[in-house]
Amino acid sequence: MTLQLGDTAPDFEADTTDGTLKFHEWMGDDWAVLFSHPADFTPVCTTELGEVARMKPEFDKRGVKVIGLSVDPLEDHRSWAGDIAETQGHALNFPLIADPAREIANLYGMIHPQADDTLTVRSVFVIGSDKKVKLTLTYPASTGRNFEEILRVIDSLQLTADYSVATPVNWQHGEDVIIVPSLSDEEAREKFPKGWETVKPYLRVTPQPQD
Ligand code: BEZ
Repeated sequence: MTLQLGDTAPDFEADTTDGTLKFHEWMGDDWAVLFSHPADFTPVCTTELGEVARMKPEFDKRGVKVIGLSVDPLEDHRSWAGDIAETQGHALNFPLIADPAREIANLYGMIHPQADDTLTVRSVFVIGSDKKVKLTLTYPASTGRNFEEILRVIDSLQLTADYSVATPVNWQHGEDVIIVPSLSDEEAREKFPKGWETVKPYLRVTPQPQD
């Protein structure tokens, strides 16, 4: 069964480069990004893992923990980590799950038997502090992901959770947002004292709320 938005992210126990952990307990009250890569010692994956390590402070700022996964053994993860630090200039600073029995990969539908160049596809799951799946992404093995886009979606999701707003096409943090259609004008007046522009009754644009 494919995991869908709104489903509870399955809990599991895993061996990682930071020791054994129970996923939900490890998340605590934070959000999480769980992502898989096809294999250790492959070029695109090496660049991705280095990039996530570089961006880790940005995830931290948003209360989001990151954790990687592949079906390679822990010894390979440890040895490959040296290559990541050497070639990407950023050492692994988040746990990498070793799942050689493919239990977690199967639980999350990360194995796509018909994908012709990999066993585990590039999967991303953004999981909220309520343990619900908020975003899923599946990329082919030959294309490295854009983790800035994942941060952008997290910013949007967290704004929605806090302020009843949605974000328009190509939105970037700090730009105007859209008042969710489920909010009446009367309710919106209380939540958005700075007001809004009504482009259409269903398209009400307001400055991004700030903390
Ligand atoms: C890579 O990370 O470069 C890669 C992994 C599996 C298949 C193709 C590319």
